Amino acid sequence: MLSKKMHAKLNEQIEIEAYSSNLYLAMASWASENALPGSAKFLYKQAEEERSHMMKIFEYLNRIGEHACVPALKEPPCDYKKIEAMFEQALKHEQSVTQAIHELMDLAVTSKDYASAGFLQWFVDEQVEEEETFRAILDMLKMAGVKEGRNIYLADKEIGKRAEAK
Ligand code: FEO
Repeated sequence: MLSKKMHAKLNEQIEIEAYSSNLYLAMASWASENALPGSAKFLYKQAEEERSHMMKIFEYLNRIGEHACVPALKEPPCDYKKIEAMFEQALKHEQSVTQAIHELMDLAVTSKDYASAGFLQWFVDEQVEEEETFRAILDMLKMAGVKEGRNIYLADKEIGKRAEAK
């Protein structure tokens, strides 16, 4: 049986993942509107992935006979000014998600909730991958000289290729 605290924290994580999905959807919309089709494609896929993260927790709670709550969500920002600023914000967001996952894992381990610890390990590994992906995109934007206004078309195309690899 899940502790009250773990139940509340897993429902909070459902909200975080659902917000992540909406955040990337908002970024995809901005990218699409600003002639960045590769980034839009990548971010639409990322939004779908985040929804699947939310569903994983939802289903875990249901499988163990607990209630999963559908969260109310705050509105994500919709104007990102520049492509590199948008991806910097995405990395920062992922770093905050990693912290939330680590706090959940801490709680599972210290309360000897081994079922939740086993379940959460997938998310720990996923966060390593998520941060790595956004860091790689930012490195590529930097090397391409996007901040100085160079190679935006090519850099966006490169990001689009990442959507296909997902
Ligand atoms: Fe599900 Fe990107 O955190």
